[in-house]
Amino acid sequence: MKITAILLAAGQGTRMKSSLPKVLHPVAGKPMLWHAMNAIQQVTTEKPVVVVGHGADEVTAYLGETAQTVLQEPQLGTGHAVMQAESLLKGKTDMVIVCYADMPLLRGETLQKLVETQKQNKGPISMLTVIADDPRGFGRIIRRDDGSVDAIVEEYVATEEQKQIKELNVGGYCFNAEWLWGALQRIPKNPKKGEYYLTDAIELASKAGLPVQATVMGDLEETIGVNTRIQLSEVEIAMRRRINQGHMLNGVTMIDPASTYIEAGVQIGRDTVLMPNSHLRGKTEIGEGNVVGPNTIIRDSKIGNHCKILASDIEGALLEDGVDMGPFARLRKGAHLGNHVHMGNFGEVKDSYLADGVKMGHFSYIGNAQIGSNTNIGAGTITCNYDGEKKHATEIGEDVFIGSDTMLVAPLKIGSGARTGAGAIVTKNVAEDTLVVGMPARAIKKLERKSKKK
Ligand code: UD1
Ligand code: MG
Repeated sequence: MKITAILLAAGQGTRMKSSLPKVLHPVAGKPMLWHAMNAIQQVTTEKPVVVVGHGADEVTAYLGETAQTVLQEPQLGTGHAVMQAESLLKGKTDMVIVCYADMPLLRGETLQKLVETQKQNKGPISMLTVIADDPRGFGRIIRRDDGSVDAIVEEYVATEEQKQIKELNVGGYCFNAEWLWGALQRIPKNPKKGEYYLTDAIELASKAGLPVQATVMGDLEETIGVNTRIQLSEVEIAMRRRINQGHMLNGVTMIDPASTYIEAGVQIGRDTVLMPNSHLRGKTEIGEGNVVGPNTIIRDSKIGNHCKILASDIEGALLEDGVDMGPFARLRKGAHLGNHVHMGNFGEVKDSYLADGVKMGHFSYIGNAQIGSNTNIGAGTITCNYDGEKKHATEIGEDVFIGSDTMLVAPLKIGSGARTGAGAIVTKNVAEDTLVVGMPARAIKKLERKSKKK
């Protein structure tokens, strides 16, 4: 049985007061549209059809190969939106799911229940409803005596009595495809608004004696549609809670989930502890037994196991196991810290590899450098990697001791076991096991290396 989803995303989203198309506004770091696509992909492997209108180019570009898009121009209502997909889908699918791209909390499991309901249904439509005290302008559900749905009455035409009905139309439907294409032709133009409403299809079925079934949803939160930035923030909070609970159930400790911000798709290993105000974003993977935060931002990075990251900013970096970072350390793109690296306060590392056991305690900048294991980088050390035109590399061997406030003028190589005196300005390569001092630094004696490694 082929099931294809049509996702409605053509509406303007006027009330967002934004130049960004509504469905591209992020929730937990991913566009609303991503969440809607994610739910759909849990129930069907067929490529969905997304109906686009306002901001069509941006929305289409975002979707890329993940969906087919069809332009609805002008936008004459939800029924009219679905008509636009007919030419792409007619004869190619047995069932059609229709849902809205501005409901990012709707779960795949809920759509699955909807599909199951329709599979049991002898009639052509099943739909999602919810029972709620606050009607939020949603259409009211009129039931027949046999429990099937008779009609959906939109709020603006509802009688006072109908307005009291607590069962609401959520905006998720599953149709028998063949029936749907025929019914769309029969949906009347709404006399008041001149639009074609998908909800009128329900009445068409029921008048023809074909049962319309409803799946009543248990979770009211899932039905929040985003029309304003206030609803966007409600959805953000609900999504954060959902994501955080998922991680906690997987063995992650959060001291304060309400101030722990984890984007969709981030992975975290068990026994990792997230302190308040930790932000984990993008394509981030965190191993087991780490302590992150408080006050830490990690983006697009991979963290091993048993690291301690306090009040730091990490982007595009790789940390191996047992790294101890911060407070106030910054890793930029291409930073790679080996096992048990210690990086203290006010350090910055970019496009560099610090091998196992490197210590960099205070106030240093390391860029475009390779640093051998167990080397000590003294306070205030700078790799002077940029000459105003180009970046140059610095290579530092193992067991090197860089004295405080050393300037390493790249391109430069410092041999293993070497040492620089405090305040040295190193402009020439330094041989292994050699002590250099001064400005520019000059060799003054040969050293005997005390390697910490066996
Ligand atoms: C619709 C339902 C209502 C339901 C509510 C739930 C109809 C007539 N009414 O009302 O019963 O309770 O959703 O949220 O369907 N869209 C298009 N093209 C259009 C019009 C809309 O793509 O021409 C898209 C919008 O971008 C949006 C969705 O369809 O994602 C819903 O449209 P909207 O105008 O918000 O419908 P409601 O008035 O909320
Ligand atoms: Mg709406």
